[in-house]
Amino acid sequence: MTDGSEFVVVANRLPVDRVVGADGSPSWRRSPGGLVSAIAPLMRRRHGTWIGWAGSPDERLEPFEEDGMRLVPVFQSSEDVELYYEGFSNATLWPLYHDVVAPPVYDRAMWDAYVRVNERFAEVAAAVAAEGSVVWVQDYQLQLVPAMLRKLRPDLRIGFFLHIPFPPLELFWQMPWRRQILEGLLGADLVGFQLPGAAANFVRLCARLLGARNTKQDVHWDDRVVRARAFPISVDVEELHDLISQPAVRERAEEIRADLGGGTVLLGVDRLDYTKGIAQRLQAFGELLSDGDLKPGEAVFAQIATPSRERVEQYQLLRDQIEQQVGHINGEHSELGTTVIHYLHTSYDRQELAALYLAADVMVVTPLRDGMNLVAKEYVACREDLRGALVLSEFAGAAAELKRGAFQVNPYDIDGLKEALLAAIRSTPAEQARRMRVMRKRVLEHDVDRWARSFLDELERPQDPLPEEQPA
Ligand code: ADP
Ligand code: G6P
Repeated sequence: MTDGSEFVVVANRLPVDRVVGADGSPSWRRSPGGLVSAIAPLMRRRHGTWIGWAGSPDERLEPFEEDGMRLVPVFQSSEDVELYYEGFSNATLWPLYHDVVAPPVYDRAMWDAYVRVNERFAEVAAAVAAEGSVVWVQDYQLQLVPAMLRKLRPDLRIGFFLHIPFPPLELFWQMPWRRQILEGLLGADLVGFQLPGAAANFVRLCARLLGARNTKQDVHWDDRVVRARAFPISVDVEELHDLISQPAVRERAEEIRADLGGGTVLLGVDRLDYTKGIAQRLQAFGELLSDGDLKPGEAVFAQIATPSRERVEQYQLLRDQIEQQVGHINGEHSELGTTVIHYLHTSYDRQELAALYLAADVMVVTPLRDGMNLVAKEYVACREDLRGALVLSEFAGAAAELKRGAFQVNPYDIDGLKEALLAAIRSTPAEQARRMRVMRKRVLEHDVDRWARSFLDELERPQDPLPEEQPA
């Protein structure tokens, strides 16, 4: 039965994870990643219902209120976590959709779990949404939910947004269950992507794989018109402004700079993920030290790496690789009292993160592939002082909007990366201000609120009629 929620978000994760302290007492902590950063502010404002997993296996929790949102936990057993979350979502879809930078695992038991857990999410959403309400399904973990939900509740207006890249036909074709995934997505009225190229990949695939009729941005399927559009996601500019206006945050930024020794501060902030190009940026920095282009103490690299998906093999391999690399570079170049790379494998609260952005002279964002990359936009939003430089990979979705102001790099090109790092380190305040102004204009005018509004406006727009079939 419905309980009257007019606006429902369905995502694999709730915006908070349940954590149990050393003394056994439970508490809630903000979940990692860009999806939560983007949607949580909107949910607070709309007083919507958020359906998702609370982050620990085998735990059945009742719906609860937190931070102005109604949260409805979805159960996942240890086996679901292993096969659906760590397996199909993060060992199959994640690498396949990120240019196969790691080899995807294709495993039938994982697929079965993906179907089973998607069904569970669809059932909970069907039970929670009010008649005719809007349900917004998020990301690659739940691509089957739109069609499953439509079957249960044809009255709903269903939107889907993919936060990560959508691969070109040549890569997607590998997927043994490619047809089922496309049909799952086509259950939505509107399928949103970060970039126009991803929407075009999707429309093309529907035509080629399913034989669906399509006009440029629409797919005709099952007597309906499914719209595919790009909505580049963004950050909560107001929240970041409030954070950096706090005297405690500003003091903390000064303290961080002093602790780092007074040289030029380079900063990386990422989930510890093999798509983020962390090894490439550290290699470039290490080589600049080896070549003598940088002296220890003249520049210092702070790399914050949030623990992520720690039971997935590729993530374990990455962690070993990065920690070995940091040890190696520090062993070669650090001096007593002058560490060249500060590596912190931890998650921070928003205040500390904002202080880090203010402390950084050069923000280094070098993913091998990234749907958007909110860290790049957060840095820009925080630099009201027009200081600081952004080194940004061309393979981040954010490059489409920020390329005129960023020092753009191809992270596979280590020499190019070294040149860009040096140029950013040596950029004058006037050049930094010129570049930052261009980037800030874009981010401030296109914040997360505008992103969500444009998606929801498009979703709530009346259905287009299906065009007449042209005689052959
Ligand atoms: P992804 O979604 O792949 O994790 P994004 O850059 O789009 O990458 O989003 C990451 C989000 O997580 C940002 O909002 C960023 O502020 C936050 N974040 C990243 N690292 C940390 C950390 N160590 N502590 C707290 N938040 C973090
Ligand atoms: C990215 C994905 C999100 C995911 C987040 C954190 O932002 O697009 O869907 O929630 O990473 O990853 P995790 O596996 O910890 O949920």
